Amino acid sequence: MPKPPLDGVILITGASSGIGSELARQLAPRAKALVLLARRTERLEELAGELRGKHPRLSVLVQSCDLLDREATDRALERIEGELGGVDVLINNAGLGDVSMFDLSSWKKNQRMLDLNITALTYLTHRLVPRMVERGRGGVLQVSSGFGLSFMPGFATYVGTKHYVTGFTECLRLEVASQGVAVSQLCPGPVRTEFEEVAVDFETPKVPEFVTISAEHCARAAIAGFSRNKAIIIPGGFMKISSTLSRITPRFVLRLIYGPAAKRMRGMQVEAMTRESRPQQGENSSKVSALN
Ligand SMILES: NC(=O)c1ccc[n+]([C@@H]2O[C@H](COP(=O)([O-])OP(=O)(O)OC[C@H]3O[C@@H](n4cnc5c(N)ncnc54)[C@H](OP(=O)(O)O)[C@@H]3O)[C@@H](O)[C@H]2O)c1
Repeated sequence: MPKPPLDGVILITGASSGIGSELARQLAPRAKALVLLARRTERLEELAGELRGKHPRLSVLVQSCDLLDREATDRALERIEGELGGVDVLINNAGLGDVSMFDLSSWKKNQRMLDLNITALTYLTHRLVPRMVERGRGGVLQVSSGFGLSFMPGFATYVGTKHYVTGFTECLRLEVASQGVAVSQLCPGPVRTEFEEVAVDFETPKVPEFVTISAEHCARAAIAGFSRNKAIIIPGGFMKISSTLSRITPRFVLRLIYGPAAKRMRGMQVEAMTRESRPQQGENSSKVSALN
């Protein structure tokens, strides 16, 4: 089984916060070069400064790029190729969530999730894997989610995008294993990052603290699993147990459990929308009146 060349050039998307920043910090002692990619350049520069200070022999390339912009993505890849001679390991970490009943959700947010979590991830993989196969060495770590293996009301599009990542990655892993390219996926449960801030617009049931892990813990487990070429990496003891339970529990039982949760979450969202007395995300104003 191939091992990812973590001593090579590593491109990390979504490196400006959360899991991506931690992956960069923990890979810095092993990598030859790190490419930090995201939209918030100042954040990336700050992290690059920190890493250069701690690891003087490491090359760090800050690449600001909106992955929803195909031309900007192509320009970024050309620059990386020109300055570092290609990418040995791709970490597709940038991702976006949204918590909402689907019928009350903003189309813009759905579109962004589909474009980032699915299309951008697939495009980068498609651009970079052929070269890895040609060289007979490489690695891809796709950041999926525990939701790539299960489902939960309030996350329809997000769950759908992560199921795509999980299925796509399982196939890719089999297709390129014989060509020297290691492919793993990370399927975390709740991690303390800025993810929730971006994804949640109204008060939702709080995730208990013992279920949540730090980005540092998540990145450590991810690198340990990826180094060993694990197919699916599930960080944290609680998530390991709960994902095993959810795999062996018949789906109809899960539906029975999640049904009341869906009703409760809908109630909370409708209440929040009514309280604010404005349409969500400035969309269709008939939505709120239709709910009253
Ligand atoms: N936190 C969790 O509970 C959790 C659980 C399971 C899976 N995950 C997955 O973990 C991954 C990382 O999330 P996180 O928790 O670390 O969240 P985060 O702190 O919000 O980080 C998301 C990263 O994605 C980048 N990003 C967003 N839109 C982008 C765009 N259009 N172009 C380029 N970069 C973009 C952000 O950078 P800029 O804003 O600077 O562009 C940021 O660096 C995601 O794929 C998420 O689905 C998270």
